[in-house]
Amino acid sequence: MKHNILVIGGTGKTGHRVVERLTKSGHHVTVGSRNGTPSFDWEDYSTFAPALKGMDRAYIVYYPDLAVPGAKEAITALTEAALKAGLEKVVLLSGKGETEAEACEQIVANSGLNYSLVRASWFNQNFSEGAFLDFVLAGQVALPMPNAEIPFVDADDIAEVVTKVLVDDSYNGKTITVTGPKKLTFKQVVSVMEHAIGRDVKYIPISIEEFKTGMKAAGLPDSYVWLFGYLFKEVLGNPDNQEVSHDVEKVLGRKATSFEEYAQKTLATGVWNQAIVQ
Ligand SMILES: NC(=O)c1ccc[n+]([C@@H]2O[C@H](COP(=O)([O-])OP(=O)(O)OC[C@H]3O[C@@H](n4cnc5c(N)ncnc54)[C@H](OP(=O)(O)O)[C@@H]3O)[C@@H](O)[C@H]2O)c1
Repeated sequence: MKHNILVIGGTGKTGHRVVERLTKSGHHVTVGSRNGTPSFDWEDYSTFAPALKGMDRAYIVYYPDLAVPGAKEAITALTEAALKAGLEKVVLLSGKGETEAEACEQIVANSGLNYSLVRASWFNQNFSEGAFLDFVLAGQVALPMPNAEIPFVDADDIAEVVTKVLVDDSYNGKTITVTGPKKLTFKQVVSVMEHAIGRDVKYIPISIEEFKTGMKAAGLPDSYVWLFGYLFKEVLGNPDNQEVSHDVEKVLGRKATSFEEYAQKTLATGVWNQAIVQ
């Protein structure tokens, strides 16, 4: 059966991959984005109903993070609009180990919609499509929490899991925790990238305060600076949050992508060669 599916965050790291996969499978996909038609903007609730009109399912990626003030209100407004628009099911992307995000998960679970929750560890793609790409290009990855061991997960694995659970109702009401196959420190992932890229890329341990000061100096908004402080301290600072899960393998019937595999496929895209070109 083919569905009409709204992919909110459909231009982002997991969203664009979900759009590609669903489209390939023959579903009718609408990209939820501020530049979409119709436009979807988390900061303007009046855009929710037009974007949900005619949809029967939706993938929900909140931006910047379910832990930020205002997320609960936005998720409540969205699920109410989805129920009104007659959607059958939603899949929410959540953050593994983010206690604050669990309130949003509960809002979805109690919304009256069928749902699945996909809780993700930190993405590999933060180093190639996100906040840490510039550090890799500069050859100096200065990040706090040197002792944190993180089961980084690949955005392709998340997208494959999301695509499956969106259209398979046997996952209704379930929480799927997606991680990579192994816990790695920042120093270890930087070393994997350095070997793949073939030029110096070094990890430099700094404090959370130093990281936040750098973000402020770069002109990033206070809310974003707060969010990174929260993610480093509360999420990475608690080893209980960082266990490897086998849900990717359970859902997809294959092993989760390793950081080494991620580094090789990312190298092939050329994104890490930008610094050499400059
Ligand atoms: N990155 C990680 O390591 C990680 C780990 C676990 C969970 N998560 C969760 O994943 C989600 C996305 O995080 P991400 O940093 O990786 O971002 P991302 O998916 O790359 O997000 C960017 C997307 O958000 C959209 N967006 C930005 N502002 C928007 C707004 N005001 N209204 C509507 N759409 C907006 C962008 O669309 P347009 O610019 O086209 O409007 C784009 O599609 C967050 O909820 C986060 O908690 C991330």
